[in-house]
Amino acid sequence: MTIRVGVVGTGIMGSDHARMLGRIISGAELGAVFDIDRARAEVVAGALPTARVLDDPQALIGDPDIDAVLVASSDSTHEALVLGCIAAGKPVLCEKPLAPTAAGCRHILDAEAAAGRRLVSVGFMRRYDPGYVELKRLLAGGHLGLPLLLHCVHRNPAAPADVASGHLITGSAVHEIDIARWLFGDEIATISVHTGRSSRAAGTTRDPLLLILETTGGVLVDVEVFVHARYGYEVRCEVVGEEGTVALDAPAPTLVRRDFTVGRGLAADWRPRFAEAYRRELQDWVDGLRGISTGPSALATAWDGYAATAVAEAGVTALETGLSQKVDLRA
Ligand code: NAI
Repeated sequence: MTIRVGVVGTGIMGSDHARMLGRIISGAELGAVFDIDRARAEVVAGALPTARVLDDPQALIGDPDIDAVLVASSDSTHEALVLGCIAAGKPVLCEKPLAPTAAGCRHILDAEAAAGRRLVSVGFMRRYDPGYVELKRLLAGGHLGLPLLLHCVHRNPAAPADVASGHLITGSAVHEIDIARWLFGDEIATISVHTGRSSRAAGTTRDPLLLILETTGGVLVDVEVFVHARYGYEVRCEVVGEEGTVALDAPAPTLVRRDFTVGRGLAADWRPRFAEAYRRELQDWVDGLRGISTGPSALATAWDGYAATAVAEAGVTALETGLSQKVDLRA
């Protein structure tokens, strides 16, 4: 059985996902693509013989020859597209965020509950990164004793200047928010956001930001998010437990010795750094749809998407008010 996937949004992420579905993921093929910029969709479909370019996203969702949908269009389009998939009874993997507002995510939770079956997955792919998977395995094995702290660093070399500072939380730190929930199996109870001197490259954007979160179980999490870090793309973290620590470091496998220095390469952005995570995430989604999964899935659910957006939304309020915010999740 082959899962024929329709991809909505063929920008940076959608075109990568489409190529992977068409060429690398076993048991899947790219059935159709839609993008409001038709030329982009045509470039992607042109490279894959099974793919049609459609003129309307709801037609793609309703197409009887499409079994499942991957949403990788701009954030503001996600809610309506995911609701369309639920109404059509089609499984959907939606890139993060599930929706930009917690209210939008709640509409999706309600619709999925009314449909009576799990249809929605969210693209928090770090759950499939071999480094994070190993870190979670070590924590679950009790090797560190009780986890006490999580320190996170999330740096991009460059980003547009003058964007709303809150976007560093909703667009970037939201990955750390999801990873903290996933690693500890806890919700986030509170969030505060701190700013100091900003990079002059950031214009009016406050960059870097320092987020402090506390999980419902009492683990303290700090996140530095810095999107004008210049030197490279880097995601690191360290869990401090009662018995020791475990760190996720840059996984570059090669060391270069030259000019009296020793160095490891860094990625320019998230795509090479998390390429294996994206591949494993898509394969797990397709395996689940084919009913051949060998174990429990790590895919983020609609609830995970809602919780991450709710925490990020509280973070934006914390940034704007300077006050720590309690995160109120629905029951
Ligand atoms: P992009 O700007 O390169 O691509 C977005 C595409 O959506 C564009 O081709 C645009 O024409 C299309 N689009 C806009 N409105 C549309 C509509 N109504 N219907 C169909 N297509 C529409 O952006 P990028 O970086 O590919 O991001 C796509 C999504 O993936 C975003 O939601 C973003 O937050 C998420 N993302 C996730 C990452 C992850 O690590 N999981 C990393 C980067 C982005």
